[in-house]
Amino acid sequence: MTEPTGKELGKKTAAAMALDHLQPGMAVGLGSGSTADWFVRLLGARMREGGLDIACTATSKRTEMLAREEGIALRPLDDFDRLDLTVDGADEIDPRLDLIKGGGACHLIEKIVASASDTLIVIADDSKLVPVLGAFPLPVEIATLGWQTTIRRIAEVTGDVRLVRRGGDEPVLTDEGNFVIDCHMDRIENAAALAAGLNAVPGVVEHGLFLGMASRALIGAADGTAREVLPVS
Ligand code: 5RP
Repeated sequence: MTEPTGKELGKKTAAAMALDHLQPGMAVGLGSGSTADWFVRLLGARMREGGLDIACTATSKRTEMLAREEGIALRPLDDFDRLDLTVDGADEIDPRLDLIKGGGACHLIEKIVASASDTLIVIADDSKLVPVLGAFPLPVEIATLGWQTTIRRIAEVTGDVRLVRRGGDEPVLTDEGNFVIDCHMDRIENAAALAAGLNAVPGVVEHGLFLGMASRALIGAADGTAREVLPVS
């Protein structure tokens, strides 16, 4: 593994700090994204060294593949009544530790896994800390059936009209075969009201607002240090 620098080093340090929260016997959700990838790699190395007996489930096909490469045995989420801990990244983190997630189009499973977890720890580099959510466009996963109608209804809620996310010439499809749209709002004044509004739109499968779910954030800096951030109430 090449030693990272700058922002990547911050992500790796935050991921390494999250390892300290693991206890033998835990059931652990593995998040998705480049920071969560560091956690999976470091976890793989720790498990190969021996002595850490935990059961894991993944939040995306990408994480599943990486975990298998790292020799981490995975179990389906439904095997677990509850997970003790999930470690995942975020696209934005506000002072309450409310999050925007879904930059990697995995937020549906990420939210299901996080909500099945006693504790959600967010790992990120310090560029993800924001005073107010919304500069990062909010990902919303929608059913492909009736997608244009759904987008019009979402625009009534968000005030922003968008096309589906594309990867090159093709629309991005999530692991579950849905589309994603990214809503540009700049500043989300009332995240709870926005979440409720989006939840009320038929065709919305899941949005990327994770409100009141994270109990701590481990934030890495480019100088290789990391610090713990707790939610302000
Ligand atoms: C994927 C996510 C990711 O956790 C989020 O996009 C952060 O990714 P990265 O660590 O690469 O910045 O929500 O759906």
